[in-house]
Amino acid sequence: MTPGSAATAPSFAADTAIDDVDLAALADRLGTPLHAYSSSAIRQRIGGLQAALSGLDATICYAVKANPNLAILQLMANAGVGADIVSAGEMRRSLHAGMSAERIVFSGVGKTADEIAGALSVGIHRFNVESHDELLTLQRLAGAQGVTARAAVRINPDVDAHTHAKISTGKSENKFGVSIDEARHWFAERSLLPHVQLDGLHVHIGSQILALEPFRLALQRVAAFRRELEQAGHPVNSIDVGGGLGVCYRAGEDHPVAAADYVAAIREALAGYRGRLLLEPGRYLVAEAGVLLTRVIRVKPGIARQFLVVDAAMNDLQRPSLYDAWHDIVPVSGEPRTPTTYDIVGPVCESGDTFARNRVMPECMAGDLLLIKATGAYGASMASTYNSRPLAPEVLLNQGRYAVVRRRQHFEEMIAGEQPAHHWETT
Ligand code: LLP
Repeated sequence: MTPGSAATAPSFAADTAIDDVDLAALADRLGTPLHAYSSSAIRQRIGGLQAALSGLDATICYAVKANPNLAILQLMANAGVGADIVSAGEMRRSLHAGMSAERIVFSGVGKTADEIAGALSVGIHRFNVESHDELLTLQRLAGAQGVTARAAVRINPDVDAHTHAKISTGKSENKFGVSIDEARHWFAERSLLPHVQLDGLHVHIGSQILALEPFRLALQRVAAFRRELEQAGHPVNSIDVGGGLGVCYRAGEDHPVAAADYVAAIREALAGYRGRLLLEPGRYLVAEAGVLLTRVIRVKPGIARQFLVVDAAMNDLQRPSLYDAWHDIVPVSGEPRTPTTYDIVGPVCESGDTFARNRVMPECMAGDLLLIKATGAYGASMASTYNSRPLAPEVLLNQGRYAVVRRRQHFEEMIAGEQPAHHWETT
């Protein structure tokens, strides 16, 4: 991820339509800010990955957290994709969207007893277990329901993913997974947990990874451990390679790994393994399919800088303020204008509410429509109503047509559940 400062001149290439839907007309009709996703682009990503996986016993379990909109989940389900979930809420969404429980895997360090029991009772495919305490809880709850839970141990391979510290997960200092040493003990004592079928390995080293090497290194460690386990008489029927494939946020600078190369590296590292392969891509499937449409409220000349104040804010897209993430920003109109340097900021009352610093743009004026690109993952999914700004609508685009898949939040919806403190009770 690159910090939001730089000065290379942009091409000013305008994107006037996505998936054959005219963006200016869409913004006029639905207002801004507005999240739009190209369903064709998502289907293309799914198809490409599925093609690369052909011949393998592989299931793609989309990481729901990237974009949990029901319409996106439905699209995934229709394409034969399952779900990687990290909460009861994500499980309910996935089932609601028509995904079969048989294609759902459950990851996360903080699964509660209630969440585990709920997932057991709908019969999800597999638990990616992240601590010994969780393993014992799974045994206890599966026993209580008289079922056997399929489980994989999440290995923390202590590999540097060379990504932003806040989205790195595979180093020993991170809270995720357990060491191979600890996992070895779990397998050795497998027979003490008759309600857990511990026969899988899981690894996820981080997100927005733009090189193959960290994946290779992690998979080699997992593969070596798999061989060791099999020699010790512990069959491994499932290897979940996690997510993490990076995407292009900055044209010309970010060079993502191609799906074919990624899968080739998996095939190579896991050569000789005959069980099922699970993949948990999130961002790769949806990020570049999405844009955030926003309108310039005003141009504000500052003392040191010139500000472009837009109507989207950090509550609609947190990535720049949270990770200093770069997102390309382009005007929707392609008419030639003088290159001008701006800080592009939202209306929220924090200096961190900044989408870009020192960004060279075509000169802008109030009312101009801009596209913040590659916002399909971790955009709307991380949105909040901070500053009492209602959640922006989400629209799915498909070959010249659009469908509103989340309407703009009404004020009444935003305050629903709140009430004056009329009823005082004691505990
Ligand atoms: N599997 C597990 C266990 C995960 O924790 C994650 C993401 C994924 C799969 C999907 O990773 P992906 O393929 O999307 O990289 N909010 C951050 C990203 C946080 C990712 C958390 N875990 C961002 O906006 O960059």
